Amino acid sequence: MGEPYPKLRAHALTRAFGRAPRRVDALGPLDLTVTTGEFVCLVGPSGCGKSTLLRIAAGLLRPSGGRLEIRTDSARPAAMIFQDYGIYDWKTVLANVRFGLDVQRVPRRAGNARAMDWLTRLGLSDFADAYPGALSGGMRQRVAIARALAVEPELLLMDEPFAALDAQLRVILQDELLDLTQALRTTTLFITHSLEEALVLGDRVLVMSARPGRIIAEHRPPFPRPRTGEVRDAPEFTALKSELWELLRKEAVPA
Ligand SMILES: Nc1ncnc2c1ncn2[C@@H]1O[C@H](COP(=O)(O)OP(=O)(O)O)[C@@H](O)[C@H]1O
Ligand SMILES: [Mg+2]
Repeated sequence: MGEPYPKLRAHALTRAFGRAPRRVDALGPLDLTVTTGEFVCLVGPSGCGKSTLLRIAAGLLRPSGGRLEIRTDSARPAAMIFQDYGIYDWKTVLANVRFGLDVQRVPRRAGNARAMDWLTRLGLSDFADAYPGALSGGMRQRVAIARALAVEPELLLMDEPFAALDAQLRVILQDELLDLTQALRTTTLFITHSLEEALVLGDRVLVMSARPGRIIAEHRPPFPRPRTGEVRDAPEFTALKSELWELLRKEAVPA
């Protein structure tokens, strides 16, 4: 095994929307490196350009300036999970999870088996034939996670995936995500509003400035891997959270 290399690298990345005099500078200039196997959390005030950054990384949006490169070893794609789940209500749960595999032209039988395997891991095997409309928010988000992980993405991009869930469910899904990404060593770029979530999940937590978002601070939660949700009870956890909050507050509440 060689040195870990960056899976994602952004250099002087900027994005603006609209034209003068209504032009909105949404992002950057931003520099960011996500190394292979790393779980990086981004926190920042509302409207600072987090989703813009992730949409650029997912290839859904072009940068205005600078570069963003993703280096992958295979044809496996980056997978993105949105706050509002992004699953298809007219497809069954199984078909939703198989969707990315269909796109990769995995044969149907193998695709079904892999999709079922992921549904089982996420406690959804009884709901394979159900439609997402019949499921709770937490279950819908599990479907989205199963769908994203089923393609074994080289890079997982998550935009506030748990923001719409209640507090208990959030904790459960955080712990599940911790298990899964540690087992698979999935390189992940994860956006969240929750400092607690960032501390539990991240190898690094990056704090963004107010719009146009740049990275103004970096923090490494001192919890060794493999990690469990028990880090929430670590004596230093609350102090770390306040420390991060101080950084973020300066941006969230302009003087
Ligand atoms: N398609 C768009 N057209 C115009 N403005 C946009 C568009 N998308 C985002 N913006 C603006 O860019 C800024 C950053 O948005 P966004 O990336 O969604 O922020 P965040 O995800 O951090 O809350 C905001 O001011 C937002 O209104
Ligand atoms: Mg957003």
